[in-house]
Amino acid sequence: MAMPTSHLLKIAAARRSIRKYKAVPVEREKLDLCLEAARLAPSACNAQPYRFIVLDEPALKEKFCAAVFGGVYSACRFAAAAPVMVAVVSDTGKLTAWLGNQMQSTNFRLVDIGIAAEHFVLAAAEQGLGTCWLGWFNAKAAAKALGLGTGIKVEVLLSVGYPDEAPPPRKRKTTKELAGYNTDI
Ligand SMILES: Cc1cc2nc3c(=O)[nH]c(=O)nc-3n(C[C@H](O)[C@H](O)[C@H](O)COP(=O)(O)O)c2cc1C
Repeated sequence: MAMPTSHLLKIAAARRSIRKYKAVPVEREKLDLCLEAARLAPSACNAQPYRFIVLDEPALKEKFCAAVFGGVYSACRFAAAAPVMVAVVSDTGKLTAWLGNQMQSTNFRLVDIGIAAEHFVLAAAEQGLGTCWLGWFNAKAAAKALGLGTGIKVEVLLSVGYPDEAPPPRKRKTTKELAGYNTDI
């Protein structure tokens, strides 16, 4: 049976991690739409334990990138060429969410951040923007550069801009390898 198609599936299939960007600014309307998609994300206990800090002012963004992609983190220096850098920052959130974390030994805060950030990424892809999730950066330098208080952490970065490359799709597990119905596991 042919796989049914959908708008969402087309966007998910077309999205790539983009590591080369055109030197073209990104319209605020497009970034606002990505932020709206992130805002609508579900989260444990509706805690929404994150903030998105969007750096699109060139001097500010460059200073930030110089601070976070130095030394051992230089593998991600490519991201400094993106016109926009988004810091996804954790917020301690609600007590109920914290309790849920403790009782379930699942880090719902990170689950929530992942969902919201991917909403952002898919909304960017829908608008022709390229993004790359970045987990390899100097988190302490990032918090300092953003002037964050203690206990507030930059969990991931997203580089955003118009793609200057069209990478082929990366290999994925088959559906059979990663999913099964009922006892078919
Ligand atoms: C949480 C997370 C962290 C990532 N960190 C990095 C990173 O530090 N540097 C990088 O170049 N790519 C990073 N990536 C991108 C992955 O390498 C990429 O998603 C994966 O290889 C699949 O390729 P695709 O996104 O083009 O489908 C990260 C992705 C995720 C989801």
